Amino acid sequence: MVEHKRYNFSVNDVSEVYAGPGGKLWELLMGEQIHVGGPEQTDLLAKKAGIDKVGQNLTLLDICSALGGPARHLAEKYGINVVGLDITPEMVLEAEKRTEGKPYEGKIEYRIGSGLDIPAHQNSFEVVWGQDAWCYIRDKVRLIEETWRVLKPGGVLAFTDWIWGSVGVSEEESDFLMEFMVFPDLQTLAGYVELIKATGYELVEKEDLQEDFAKHMDIYIDILQKAKPDIEAGFGAELYASAEEGVLAWQKAAHEKKVGRGLWIAKKP
Ligand SMILES: C[S@@+](CC[C@H](N)C(=O)[O-])C[C@H]1O[C@@H](n2cnc3c(N)ncnc32)[C@H](O)[C@@H]1O
Repeated sequence: MVEHKRYNFSVNDVSEVYAGPGGKLWELLMGEQIHVGGPEQTDLLAKKAGIDKVGQNLTLLDICSALGGPARHLAEKYGINVVGLDITPEMVLEAEKRTEGKPYEGKIEYRIGSGLDIPAHQNSFEVVWGQDAWCYIRDKVRLIEETWRVLKPGGVLAFTDWIWGSVGVSEEESDFLMEFMVFPDLQTLAGYVELIKATGYELVEKEDLQEDFAKHMDIYIDILQKAKPDIEAGFGAELYASAEEGVLAWQKAAHEKKVGRGLWIAKKP
């Protein structure tokens, strides 16, 4: 098995990205649900997690809830009670602003905090959820243990994330891809399975979404290039150039199957 390098980015480094232009740029590419595939992928994950039926009165924790796009979607469409947890105060404030006055506002609560030390009692949630964000968290063992602590027995862990693909990368390529994204650690499809099982979960499903990931990279580079004048006007030519270089590198690596995306569903017995 290829040993993948880990990087020393801290939560502060990641937070800085989302407090600054980074968060706005990702929203421009992906929409306010900042993950590959937007609302459709939220519906897919909800279906696979078995939470897509209205009236189940479930409480779900979304770790790395960002602008609250998925939280609002889950509350509005399925009546789920959502706690959104995010480390970046600017994202939480914006999520609160966008939720204010919505008919389902009472179903959502946002908390500022880290997935590594979840501000919640043990056995609090029926579902722990994450979409394309745990790649920002270095200590995955602790993260998965924290999900276990706050999940009720019988609860479901459901998440998607960016991962290393089946083809290896050089150290130089790894450095560029990870430093551009400010990712301290990427898992593999099998790596997450190991972590999940080692924590005590029963794996229900894992899915390799590599092909879809590569297709979306094509879409993102297209959106980015079309928005070049606006991005340059808003954030400067240097930021645009660096964003284009970075997304092009991810697009290439995705088509070479060096990086991808996966989905995991597990049950706490
Ligand atoms: C890609 S966005 C998440 C997108 C979101 N899941 C969605 O689908 O809309 C990444 C988010 O992770 C948050 N984050 C990064 N490290 C974190 C940590 N250790 N604990 C909680 N949130 C974290 C960032 O502040 C940022 O808002």
